[in-house]
Amino acid sequence: MAVKTLKDLDFTDKRVLVRVDFNVPIKDGVVTDDTRIRAALPTLNYILEQNGSRLVLMSHLGRPKGERDEKYRLAPVAKRLSELVGREVTMAPDCVGEESEKLTSELQPGGVVLLENTRFHAEETKNDEEFSRKLAAHGDVYVNDAFGSAHRAHASTEGVARLLPGAAGFLIEKEVSFFEHLLKHPDKPFVAIIGGAKVSTKIDVLKTLMPKCTSLIIGGGMSYTFLKAKGHGIGNSLVEEEYLDTASELMQEAERLGVQLLLPVDHLAAADFSEDAAAETVDGVDIPDGKIGMDIGPKTIETLRDVIIGAKNLVWNGPMGVFEFDKFAGGTLATAKFVAECSGMTVVGGGDSVAAANKFGLADRMDHVSTGGGASLEFLEGKTLPGIAILERE
Ligand code: 3PG
Repeated sequence: MAVKTLKDLDFTDKRVLVRVDFNVPIKDGVVTDDTRIRAALPTLNYILEQNGSRLVLMSHLGRPKGERDEKYRLAPVAKRLSELVGREVTMAPDCVGEESEKLTSELQPGGVVLLENTRFHAEETKNDEEFSRKLAAHGDVYVNDAFGSAHRAHASTEGVARLLPGAAGFLIEKEVSFFEHLLKHPDKPFVAIIGGAKVSTKIDVLKTLMPKCTSLIIGGGMSYTFLKAKGHGIGNSLVEEEYLDTASELMQEAERLGVQLLLPVDHLAAADFSEDAAAETVDGVDIPDGKIGMDIGPKTIETLRDVIIGAKNLVWNGPMGVFEFDKFAGGTLATAKFVAECSGMTVVGGGDSVAAANKFGLADRMDHVSTGGGASLEFLEGKTLPGIAILERE
């Protein structure tokens, strides 16, 4: 997909309306993870370097249901952003309306305004045309750098792009180039590691990646549905009964295509799903009655080592076990370490695997850690993301 980029627009003396994804975790009025804010800096700094440009930024935060909600105000983000860009960031009282319009129309060259949460208005998620018009009034040109929200056809991500000359920012460009490479011309061996709780949320990703990859590693809660479909005992582990047939079909498809499909060959299990439960090694594929599979076991970890390290291209989406509980984080940690050791191109997409890579301090050793959860998943499903499609070149 060829989208318009920052080099296609002239920012000289312009008010540049930029959609960013500043949907970041905040605790007690302080941003606790500023990854998404830092990811937007190359674009913001580039625009600010152009003569006479001014920045008007907009973002959503959380899901406030179309009403003003104090806990979703963007003020803590403005504070953190101001530290990162080394200049004042003025917080607008709202994203539309007279007061905000006055602020943005009087903005001086080099000035930065952050509009208040776009989701304080129900029209945002409805992609309302009139509301898009009001947002568009804040800028002369539009830049979308909110990769994490590009799968949403909302006013700030899609509607506005219909009304102003627009382009994708550096972050979207970078995210798209990594994911497109994997989907269009991956270098072999191409290894996909897909984990997480549910098969149901990963079916389309598995179907899209299957014909392209060399090895498909399935771990996490979803692996028990596959194991059950193969006739193995899974005790009280998570299972989606209604997806047993789908799991069988996917395994048959892998065989037909000659794709190496790797499932856990042993496990760490527990008597109950809790942080304090004792971790018991199950030395085999079958999980005994009454036990819950919580993580992949040591033998599985060993089978993954060479496959992961030997990949030329690799994508990882979803943890291998309940990594939030330290006793059951070993499989995900080992996976993250192998991905870090892999000298091929490694891409981590999806909220939980990114959280895991961050938790283990290994994110810096991956080639690309996506800022999109739902967006990266939809991209890997081969879907068109509306916030990006609208910026395509004619
Ligand atoms: C995200 O955190 O995945 C994005 O900011 C999108 O948020 P949403 O799922 O509330 O649209």
